[in-house]
Amino acid sequence: MTLDTTRDTRHRNPFADHDAIWLFGYGSLIWKADFPYRERRPAHIHGWVRRFWQGSHDHRGTPESPGRVVTLVRQPGERCHGMAYRISPEVLAPLDVREKNGYLREVVRLHFDDAENDSAEGLVYLAGPDNAAFLGEAPLDAIAAQIAASHGPSGANRDYLLNLAIALNDLGVEDDHVFALATRLDAEAR
Ligand code: SIN
Repeated sequence: MTLDTTRDTRHRNPFADHDAIWLFGYGSLIWKADFPYRERRPAHIHGWVRRFWQGSHDHRGTPESPGRVVTLVRQPGERCHGMAYRISPEVLAPLDVREKNGYLREVVRLHFDDAENDSAEGLVYLAGPDNAAFLGEAPLDAIAAQIAASHGPSGANRDYLLNLAIALNDLGVEDDHVFALATRLDAEAR
């Protein structure tokens, strides 16, 4: 698979004939919602966890020195909390470009946090283990060191991590993986 997944992902839309689509964001899409949306609601998905296992060659690192950003990793019994956005179908094209470093649109059932038993099918950008930029698991200290050292066209990798930690905290979401990394980065900055 090439490093640019824009072409692979753009036809993946079973909701193409819908007037609006739910999109689940779990990483930068939580704290950097610079796209138009009709409404947004805190939500979660079942069977996945958020991990800094995806390489970033285009936003928070470079091809020679990739940063680390989040993707979803399957873990039965677990939940990943994030933000659901109701978007118009044409909003997906620019998001495909933003998420082109290994992410593909996948269908997911999202459960809204603000209403019991309220759920909907939607899309999520998922960078699976077979994508060319995938880095995979590493000790937390090594992940933190890589994030601390990485910069890319969108800025410091550290800011991606700390913005995500702040946004999750604001949502009342506990995420041990993200918070443990943020603590390491904080300690290092002192
Ligand atoms: C997402 O936020 O849902 C995808 C990963 C990212 O852009 O950080």
